[in-house]
Amino acid sequence: MPVIRGKIIEPLFPAETIAARNRELAAEIAGGPTKDLLVIAVLKGSFIFAADLLRGMHEAGLAPEVEFITLSSYGSGTVSRGVRIIKDIDSDVRDRDVLLVDDILESGRTLSFARDLLFERGARNVTVAVLLDKKGHRQTDFEADYVGFDCPDHFVVGYGMDVAYAFRELPFVGVVTGDA
Ligand code: IMP
Ligand code: MG
Repeated sequence: MPVIRGKIIEPLFPAETIAARNRELAAEIAGGPTKDLLVIAVLKGSFIFAADLLRGMHEAGLAPEVEFITLSSYGSGTVSRGVRIIKDIDSDVRDRDVLLVDDILESGRTLSFARDLLFERGARNVTVAVLLDKKGHRQTDFEADYVGFDCPDHFVVGYGMDVAYAFRELPFVGVVTGDA
């Protein structure tokens, strides 16, 4: 079992598995609405997935523009949790086909907030790609259009995702199972 900086990290999705799935997702996306396509990556956790997916989209013949939005959840518990824009996109989304890219779909609050926001701003179409889907944690009726993998009910790190700001740089997705 890999030990990284004193933590035991059990690999869940190896780099090669993610790369192969990204190629499939890019091909699926190429078959969807892609006129004037604008990809919006939801920071921070999606930055590596978005970068790899975009290169896959190039291979699939797409030529998207790219934007970034930083969103954060605030409040605790279930009912009072809201989503806040920390850093907004620069582009006008009016009449654009938008693809939102995020790392994990969990409660669905972050992505349903983002999708509503883009429709309010006049986007023609908004689709959503996530690397991982934690289906058991949904608190909305939100579903993604493109899902890399169903995620087991564990807190995962790597491939852009962190725990307490650590492990974003790992090339694979894993679970911290304990101290070494
Ligand atoms: P939700 O769908 O609004 O609940 O938000 C999901 C967000 O929570 C994701 O975009 C991640 O930023 C974060 N998140 C959820 N589960 C994990 C995890 O296992 N590891 C790292 N971040 C997570
Ligand atoms: Mg996130």
